[in-house]
Amino acid sequence: MDAVNALIRTRMASEHAPRIPEVTAHLVEAGGKRLRPMLTLAAARIFDYAGPYHVHLAATVEFIHTATLLHDDVVDESAQRRGRPTANLLWDNKSSVLVGDYLFSRSFQLMVETGSLRVLDILANASATIAEGEVLQLTAAQDLATTEAIYLQVVRGKTAALFSAATQVGAVIAERSEREVQALFDYGDALGIAFQIADDLLDYTGDTAVTGKNLGDDFRERKLTLPLIKAVAAASAEERLFWQRTIEKGDQRDGDLDYAIALLRRHNALEQTRADAFAWTNKAQRALTVLPRSDMRDLLSDLAEYVVSRLK
Ligand code: IPE
Ligand code: IPE
Ligand code: MG
Ligand code: MG
Repeated sequence: MDAVNALIRTRMASEHAPRIPEVTAHLVEAGGKRLRPMLTLAAARIFDYAGPYHVHLAATVEFIHTATLLHDDVVDESAQRRGRPTANLLWDNKSSVLVGDYLFSRSFQLMVETGSLRVLDILANASATIAEGEVLQLTAAQDLATTEAIYLQVVRGKTAALFSAATQVGAVIAERSEREVQALFDYGDALGIAFQIADDLLDYTGDTAVTGKNLGDDFRERKLTLPLIKAVAAASAEERLFWQRTIEKGDQRDGDLDYAIALLRRHNALEQTRADAFAWTNKAQRALTVLPRSDMRDLLSDLAEYVVSRLK
């Protein structure tokens, strides 16, 4: 991870446009969990891959992630990220969009250095799928008819695609069998889904001091995330009027977020969402059983528990 962080630092700079290192340093130095690069390193190391390209791929994946965060905070009009004001708030939307584009391009330079067309294929597909997921979410927002199936499609795209690409490229760079590459894909896919379900639950129940993000962003943005979908499905006629006013029409007033949370509790939507996250965690762990036993495999298994540990 030290090597990955060093590579990220050297590649996030730009000699020609000072705004770029300002914005990237603001976001990168704030930390972040570095979950996705860790996945790539661990996946490669399960097979004793000796390097050096797992480091490039891990940095690639974190660059793609960071670029999507810059764009996502513009789209979601978010004010806080990693415990700091967002770049769109500190600078402006233009800087966030353009520096995000810069990071995307840098990520492609890094992956080309591995010389593997297969890896390029996987990461290029993941980038397109992330964008599709974000756009699908955009058109599903405010729509009370959104189903759990559509939610799953959004989450698979915007979040799980990068998790599964991150784990898959670890096996690919180590030149492993298709069965093992598939197992790492399946692990990353289920882990990413568990992770986003947990994130969506924390948007209603989390502690800003811990998540580093504002509470209630999804409600304000009128997003049909899993807790909301479950509560809407169980709503009485009167409750449905509340959801129509706040989510469909976007007429939100003081106290509405608290009332929304009370409705989620009344219908056990938080509990059920939590159970779904744990089920995906178990699925991720089961996918690992195909792989040779190793400390790194155990680490990936523990990581699956970590992503839902914040929900206990
Ligand atoms: C945030 O991801 C975006 C989501 C998919 C919810 P992380 O929670 O991994 O972000 P950082 O990198 O740790 O800040
Ligand atoms: C995650 O989506 C962003 C991407 C995966 C592109 P969210 O909008 O749900 O994540 P946060 O809550 O802003 O981190
Ligand atoms: Mg967001
Ligand atoms: Mg978003």
